[in-house]
Amino acid sequence: MSDWNPELYNRFRSYRAEPFRAILARLDLDPAEQIADFGCGSGENTVELARRAPGSRALGIDSSPAMIERANAAKAELAEELAARLEFRLGDLAAARVCGHFSLIFSNAALHWVADHRRILAAWRDLLCRGGKLVVQMPANHEETAQVALTALAAEPRWRDALRGVAVPSANVGTPAQYSRMLAEIGFDNIDCYYQVFAHLMNGPDDVVQWSRSTVLRPFLDALAKDQREEFVAQWQRRLEQAYGTAGPLTLHFRRIFLWARRGRN
Ligand SMILES: C[S@@+](CC[C@H](N)C(=O)[O-])C[C@H]1O[C@@H](n2cnc3c(N)ncnc32)[C@H](O)[C@@H]1O
Repeated sequence: MSDWNPELYNRFRSYRAEPFRAILARLDLDPAEQIADFGCGSGENTVELARRAPGSRALGIDSSPAMIERANAAKAELAEELAARLEFRLGDLAAARVCGHFSLIFSNAALHWVADHRRILAAWRDLLCRGGKLVVQMPANHEETAQVALTALAAEPRWRDALRGVAVPSANVGTPAQYSRMLAEIGFDNIDCYYQVFAHLMNGPDDVVQWSRSTVLRPFLDALAKDQREEFVAQWQRRLEQAYGTAGPLTLHFRRIFLWARRGRN
């Protein structure tokens, strides 16, 4: 897949930060936390976690060179004491080839980009020290109007050959009940999995398209020839105007799933 675009992704930063703020409001951080942030992106959340736990160390891992470059550039601007406790590294969250035991494994808006969550969560469990915390948040909004319209458009005769096998990333995401069972089976306790829906005011369907360009649209655009991409986007935008019933302001109801658990004591 093409690399991420940190500027485009951060255009809706205040909306994208809402689930992290919800996590911070609940998360009990120990001062000496050993933190792994899988799919850390440009590292803002990793830095904030380390800042709030003054004796902590935090490792951010991401598979995007552009994101890791951005995270390291931001780290270079931080106070020396904080920067010394942070490390950003290129890597695959699904391979989890990192040494050491963590007291907090955190992943925000990243795990839905890959499949096989049982295997990954089991590997993350093994990276946690006993009693260590797991906190995961990911979009689970494949049933939202825009994503339903995107999936339907991709299946139409004009596009279906080029887009065969391409799906919205939330298609990888299960339900709270499925994760609750899965996490218990692989050795977590204190499990709490739930949806939360965030309401984002948008100026119109065009904003939904712009919001999606840096995320859900990428695998679709990557699979199309360059000269087909804007036609696909324009068709999707027209479908959004029909589906939302407006070319003007609307509320995007963005459902996310939160997974909280602790590694058991044995
Ligand atoms: C939507 S961004 C979220 C970034 C950050 N966690 C945040 O909340 O701002 C998703 C991130 O997941 C990363 N990602 C996707 N698949 C990955 C993988 N297999 N291994 C590591 N990172 C991955 C992307 O490179 C991207 O930076």
